[in-house]
Amino acid sequence: MKTFSKKNEINISKITEKHMKNNNVKKWEPENFELQTTTIWSFPKRGNWATHRGDYRGNWAPEIPRNLILRYSKKGDIVLDPFVGSGTTIIECKLLGRRGIGIDINPDAIKLAKKRIEFSKLFDEPQELRVGDARDLSFIKSNSIDLICAHPPYADAIQYTDGIEGDLSFIKNVDEFVNEIGKVAKECYRVLKPGKYCGVLIGDIRRKKRVIPVGFKVMNEFLNVGFNLKEIIIKLQHECKTTPLWEKKSIEYNFLLLAHEYLFVFEKLEK
Ligand SMILES: C[S@@+](CC[C@H](N)C(=O)[O-])C[C@H]1O[C@@H](n2cnc3c(N)ncnc32)[C@H](O)[C@@H]1O
Repeated sequence: MKTFSKKNEINISKITEKHMKNNNVKKWEPENFELQTTTIWSFPKRGNWATHRGDYRGNWAPEIPRNLILRYSKKGDIVLDPFVGSGTTIIECKLLGRRGIGIDINPDAIKLAKKRIEFSKLFDEPQELRVGDARDLSFIKSNSIDLICAHPPYADAIQYTDGIEGDLSFIKNVDEFVNEIGKVAKECYRVLKPGKYCGVLIGDIRRKKRVIPVGFKVMNEFLNVGFNLKEIIIKLQHECKTTPLWEKKSIEYNFLLLAHEYLFVFEKLEK
């Protein structure tokens, strides 16, 4: 996830028709894609196949949901992304023959995601995108989801809306934020089928020159609701070098630039 705005990123409140077009697709699949085999993942060149554009602030590289989907689900499975943003996960679901359910608190993000899955495949699985709150998945039956791919805000590192009620990126107090994520974790646990997996990408933040371990705090919330820990993956960040303000601050105050995120893979054990 990027922590700094770049010129070509979308400010979600300024989405125009230009961003909604998904023509000009040059390739439908990644070139030379290989499934990750270690606990360190790095995608220096963010994939831009199909309708992936990488222009939604805080989007994740499509390689991440692709890896999770290919490793932990099979064709026809139901995949849930409770923080779907620009729809990266659901585009991958559509390409890979999974049934995606994507939720976001921001109606503009859902609008954008819907545009980005406006392509057809020979054997299309249905995809569902809806405005909603990841803390309340009551429209989904218990034990019905095959895989969860979740990419929540990293506390208030990036704000995603102009302050829509329920937007977790507006919670400044980290403990309060983590508490709300606990509600998401509980719902994820409830809807996931036993024996299935839930991937969560999350990064730490730095405040007053010190690191706040948002990643491990969020991990604990998922463990507290009953999940088991299958993997801790370090996902390298590549944007931190291009943030001159942080570079300057890191020299001035002698701290290291945060250059990784965590991808936790949780398992709901069979009883
Ligand atoms: C890190 S971004 C996800 C980006 C996404 N992976 C992509 O590739 O576009 C986090 C998303 O969470 C959404 N969000 C914030 N609070 C939420 C909530 N309570 N329920 C659902 N979505 C929420 C934001 O609007 C934002 O789109």
